[in-house]
Amino acid sequence: MPCTTDVFAGIARAGLVIGILAAGPASAANPAPSSAPQTSPANLKSDGPTQPAKVQDGQYTDANGDPTYHVTDGGKKVDWYTMSGYLRYNANCIVCHGPDGMGSTYAPSLVDALKGMDYAHFAGIITGGKKDVNASQELVMPAFGDNRNVMCYMPDIYTYLRARSDGAVGRNRPAEHEPKPAAFTKAEDACMK
Ligand code: HEC
Repeated sequence: MPCTTDVFAGIARAGLVIGILAAGPASAANPAPSSAPQTSPANLKSDGPTQPAKVQDGQYTDANGDPTYHVTDGGKKVDWYTMSGYLRYNANCIVCHGPDGMGSTYAPSLVDALKGMDYAHFAGIITGGKKDVNASQELVMPAFGDNRNVMCYMPDIYTYLRARSDGAVGRNRPAEHEPKPAAFTKAEDACMK
């Protein structure tokens, strides 16, 4: 159902784009209250090779506007989206791709697959699925375009897997996470409706 798919992808993407647009120069000139994540360069520094260029409502993005992780305290503390992605991964993907994205006899390691994979490419695979017709066993990555439990958390899952792929977070559940942003709850409610 391409229509439903487009709507979900649109929602996931729109949330991100609005976030980027909203993070204009004003937010740098008016630092957020100390309880909220700050936008000063010092606080954007992350463990791992990919550095966020921006944070808006607890969601970090890289210089290309793709979702990225914010990992601190030597890999122990993660941003909310990485945490949420970990939980969603374990609910929807682990059965085939194995614990911590490590792969299984059936499905490839996503720690490897995410290397250099941008958000648009990732979103396309998750939405439309993928099939390896040349494999001796038929390998099928299901299309999740109609599944809100995946589509509404696409940036989250990408962010988590990116952190795994970059080696910014290790295996198992992250020990600590940044607070759940109010904007996350709002977008989640709107998407899951
Ligand atoms: C029913 C089993 C199954 C489930 C569930 C599943 N996948 Fe897959 N996935 C596969 C298989 C098999 C492939 C390899 C397909 C191919 O080779 O064309 C794959 C491929 C992929 C790829 C492309 C890898 C590459 O090298 O290009 C990505 C990205 C991916 N899956 C992400 C996910 C995510 C994220 C989830 C959870 C939302 C998920 N998958 C759930 C079986 C699954």
